[in-house]
Amino acid sequence: MLTEEVYKKIDTLIAKYPTKKAALLPALWVAQAANDNWLPREAMADVAKYLGLAPAYVEGVATFYTMYNKAPVGRHHLEVCHNIVCMVVGADELIDHIGGKLGVGRGETTPDRKFTLNTAECLGACANAPCMMVGDTYYEDLTTEKVDEILADLA
Ligand code: FES
Repeated sequence: MLTEEVYKKIDTLIAKYPTKKAALLPALWVAQAANDNWLPREAMADVAKYLGLAPAYVEGVATFYTMYNKAPVGRHHLEVCHNIVCMVVGADELIDHIGGKLGVGRGETTPDRKFTLNTAECLGACANAPCMMVGDTYYEDLTTEKVDEILADLA
């Protein structure tokens, strides 16, 4: 299901690594980006075949990392950190607040497919907890008021 354009991008990645296998993570990233930000099993299988890896190995890698979406996600993918530092300063309340505003639970997508709400492991921004990512954008030092503004801007 991967296009020639995706394979060309993967070729560029492979050239940067000592082995094809070493390019797996960025290759999955490229495959995901080309498929509305999620990785169907067929895409994982194509990446596996292209890199000469077992499909089960690639699927194991993809399912280990939360940055790979194994199901379709909304246009705005909200990933709220729920690790210890963010949790201590209110991540749970923020997640519940966002879920209430959007009418979805954790791991769910709004019916209009605008938003998906997920939790994430430490985003590496503990000094500015609580935080979340929306796509590639970080939002830090969150409060319910800030979250309301962010959601209004994205809507
Ligand atoms: Fe949330 Fe580290 S625990 S960013």
